[in-house]
Amino acid sequence: MKLATLVSVLCPAAAMLVLLPLLLIGCGEQVAALPVDQPLSKPLRDPETYQAVRNVSQHAQQTDDGSSARLMPRVKADQDHLKICCLHANILDFYLNNILHHRDNAHPSMHRLKTDLTRVSEDLQTHGCNVTHYHDHHHAVEFRRKLARMGGEQGINKAVGEIDILFTYLQDFCLHPRNSTAAATANTSAVSTEQ
Ligand SMILES: *[C@@H]1O[C@H](CO)[C@@H](O)[C@H](O)[C@H]1NC(C)=O
Ligand SMILES: *[C@@H]1O[C@H](CO)[C@@H](O)[C@H](O)[C@H]1NC(C)=O
Ligand SMILES: *[C@@H]1O[C@H](CO)[C@@H](O)[C@H](O)[C@H]1NC(C)=O
Ligand SMILES: *[C@@H]1O[C@H](CO)[C@@H](O)[C@H](O)[C@H]1NC(C)=O
Repeated sequence: MKLATLVSVLCPAAAMLVLLPLLLIGCGEQVAALPVDQPLSKPLRDPETYQAVRNVSQHAQQTDDGSSARLMPRVKADQDHLKICCLHANILDFYLNNILHHRDNAHPSMHRLKTDLTRVSEDLQTHGCNVTHYHDHHHAVEFRRKLARMGGEQGINKAVGEIDILFTYLQDFCLHPRNSTAAATANTSAVSTEQ
C-alpha cells in the first residue's frame, strides 16, 4: 500500500507501466517467501518421520478395541503456541522414557520413530522448552493419571496408538514464532518460566 502510493507520487504514468511488472514480481516473491512457519525441529516436517509415526500408531491401534477413552488431553489452541509446544515436549519426554521402550520390537518402524523423536525432544529443549517445568501442568498430570488407571499392556497400547495425535500437536505448535516485533521475540524467552 505505502509503496504503491509512493510510486504513484514519484512516477509519471508511463514509468508506472514499466514498474508495474517489477512490483508484481516483487510481490510474488514476497508471497512465496511468507511462512510456511519453520518447525523448531526438522523431523517434524519430515514425511518419513510422519510415516513411521503412522505405521507405529496404526499397528498399536489394531489391538485396541476402541472402547476406552482417549488419553491425550485435547488442546485449546487459543493459548500461547510455544507453551502448548513445551507442554507436549514434556509428554514426548514421558513417551521416550516410559512408554516406547515397552514396544521396541513391536514394529519395524519403531527404531526410526525413536531416533527421530529423540532428536525432536533435544531440539525443543535446545529451543527453550523446560520440560520439567510442565511436569505438573494439568494436561500432563491428566495424561499420566488416565494411563495409570488403564494400566499395564492396555495402557501402553493405547498410548502408542495415540502417538500420531502427539506428533500432530508437535507439528502444529512447535514452530518458530513470527518475527513481527522485537517484543514478540523477547517474549519467547519467558516461555520456559511461565505456565
Ligand atoms: C511404513 O510401513 C510401510 C509398510 O509396512 C513400510 O514399507 C515403510 O518403510 C514404513 N515407513 C517407515 C518410515 O518406517
Ligand atoms: C525448569 O523448571 C523447573 C521447575 O519449574 C525449575 O526448577 C528449573 O529451575 C527450570 N530450569 C531452568 C533451566 O530454567
Ligand atoms: C528473527 O529475528 C532474529 C533477530 O532479528 C533473527 O536472528 C532470526 O533469524 C529471525 N527468525 C526468523 C525465523 O526469521
Ligand atoms: C509480552 O509478555 C508480557 C507478559 O507476559 C505481555 O504483557 C505482553 O503483552 C507481551 N507482548 C507481546 C508483544 O506479546
